[in-house]
Amino acid sequence: MDAALPSVGGIDCAITLAAPAKINLSLLVFSRQPDGYHDLHTVMATVDFYDDLHLCSTDSEGITLRCLGEACPDGPENLVYRAASLLAEHAGLRPRVQILLHKHIPAGAGLGGASSDAAACLWGLNRLWKLDLPRRILSQLGAQLGSDVPFFFYGPVALCTGRGQIVQPLDLRSDRFILLIMPKLSVSTAQVYQHYVYHPDQSRQRLGQVEHCLQQGDLDGLLDQPNNSLEEACYAQFASLRRLRDELEAAGIAPLGLSGSGSTLFAATDSSEQVNQWARQLHGRDEIARVRTVRFHNQGNPFTEVHHADFGNSHQTGGEPQRST
Ligand code: C5P
Repeated sequence: MDAALPSVGGIDCAITLAAPAKINLSLLVFSRQPDGYHDLHTVMATVDFYDDLHLCSTDSEGITLRCLGEACPDGPENLVYRAASLLAEHAGLRPRVQILLHKHIPAGAGLGGASSDAAACLWGLNRLWKLDLPRRILSQLGAQLGSDVPFFFYGPVALCTGRGQIVQPLDLRSDRFILLIMPKLSVSTAQVYQHYVYHPDQSRQRLGQVEHCLQQGDLDGLLDQPNNSLEEACYAQFASLRRLRDELEAAGIAPLGLSGSGSTLFAATDSSEQVNQWARQLHGRDEIARVRTVRFHNQGNPFTEVHHADFGNSHQTGGEPQRST
C-alpha cells in the first residue's frame, strides 16, 4: 500500500489535518427518547493523540479513500467517506478528491477516532473546495453522521447534551498527564446502550457532582471522580475489562475512568514520573493492545494543520509529519 504514496505528493494535495482523540471526563446517560437515542450530559476533551487526514484534489470524479495504520474500512462504511459525500451533496458539487487516512486511534475504543476523522474531513474539504461554510453548518452536517461529531468543531473541552450534538464549549483546562490504556477489545457503542439501565436517582446524584465541578471550573475534579453511566453496561458484556480495571486500580493506577462506551481506560496525574511509572507497570500485559501518555489538546484550532514538504516521503520513512504549533 505504501508503495503508491509518493505519487499522491505529486498531486495538488492541499491539506493535511491532525484529528484528535477525545476522552469523556464524565458521561451521564438519561432516558431513552422516542428516536432511540438517549439524553446525555457529557464533558469531553480532546487529547494529543491523532489520526492524520490528507485531502488531495484529483482530476477524476469521485471520492477515493485509502487507509493506513489501524484497520478501517475504505468505502462508504467509513464516516470520512460519508462526510465527503454529504458535504459535496450539501454544496451541490461533484467531488473530486483523494483522501488518505492514517489511523492511529483504534476503532471501538471510545476515543471518538472515526467521529474526529469525519469532522476533520468536513473542516478540511470546506477549505479545499472553498465553500466557506460556517462552523455551525459543518456541525449540523456532522450531527447527521454521528452524535459525537459536532463536539470536534468546538473542543478542546465542551459540555455536550441532547443526544450529544448540542455542544457548549467550556473555557476549562487541565495540565495533567493522562495514561490511555487501550485493551485488545473493540466495543460496539450501540450494543452497550442496549444493555444500559437508567437509574434516575443515581443519574441525578452524579449530575449534581459534575455540575459542582463545572461551577468551580474544576476539570481535575472530574478526573478525580470518574462518572460514566455506561460503565456497568460495558462491564456486563466484557467481564475481562472489569477484571482489568479492578486489577489496575488495586495496583495503584487509580482512579480509572472509562472513555465513552469503552474500551479505553484512563488515569490522570499531575506528575510525569507517576504516569511513566504507571506505563512501566503495564508493560507486557497481554490483554492490553496499547498504552499511551497524552496531555489535553490545548490548541484553539480544532484540527491542527500539519506542514510538511511531501507527506508521501514522511510516510515512506515511517516518520510522523511535523505538526505546527
Ligand atoms: O450517534 P452514533 O451513530 O454515534 O450512535 C451510535 C449508537 O449509540 C446509536 O445507534 C445508539 O444506539 C447509541 N446512542 C444512544 N444515545 C446517544 C448516542 C448514541 O443510544 N445519545
